[in-house]
Amino acid sequence: MSIDATHDRTVLPAAPTRELIHPLWVRITHWINVLAMTVMIGSGWEIYNASPLFPFVFPEAITLGGWLAGALLWHFAAMWVLAVNGFFYLALGIASGRFQRKLVPIRAAEVLSDAGKAITGKLSHADLSVYNAVQRLLYLGVILAGIVIVLSGISIWKPVQLQELTAIFGGYDAARYVHFLAMAAIVGFLVLHVVMTLLVPSSLRAMIIGR
Ligand code: HEM
Repeated sequence: MSIDATHDRTVLPAAPTRELIHPLWVRITHWINVLAMTVMIGSGWEIYNASPLFPFVFPEAITLGGWLAGALLWHFAAMWVLAVNGFFYLALGIASGRFQRKLVPIRAAEVLSDAGKAITGKLSHADLSVYNAVQRLLYLGVILAGIVIVLSGISIWKPVQLQELTAIFGGYDAARYVHFLAMAAIVGFLVLHVVMTLLVPSSLRAMIIGR
């Protein structure tokens, strides 16, 4: 222990820090989002199967709802959870400065360099409180895909009442493609995200207990 003469106070030796990486609101909204996304994707695949946009359907075993009407009920129920939870995550992320602090800037050179390091196993995961450039790009990308999937979804849901919104996506038919592509982007992200999480299990602990 030493005395800080300038400020006349006792300075304790540095205690081992167990810094808070993800505040409670991030963890709660993240796991609610996982639940809502799972229901939305499973039921969305069943709805898609009733009128496919492409020459394939999703296997029944990985869809939710059993039939079109059942899937629509699941989809509309989870939609409110997804939208309200997403709204809180976005509002708190912006108001707390978390997004500005952790998700930007994203520079192409850094993304390429960090992606190269990740592929060759040289990317450090020692400091979980700082996202590397690839993570920043993926997290910001999936947040944007989340916004697009909700907006294109409500434009397909109420194409007459919300025709201005539907027009932004190029009309009802185009909005269906946008909605599908946003889903594909989110599922692609999810596969990579879960693999990365399993490779760095301490990051999963941090998303559960915060530290
Ligand atoms: C079982 C599924 C999932 C698991 C196990 C999981 C796990 C995690 C973990 C461990 C982190 C922290 C990463 C780190 O600190 O390096 C994280 C962050 C994040 N995850 Fe997930 N996740 C899942 C699903 C999702 C889904 C479905 C989405 C969105 C569609 C998502 C979006 C995000 C975002 C945006 C962050 C950054 C949050 C922030 O810092 O504000 N995750 N996830």
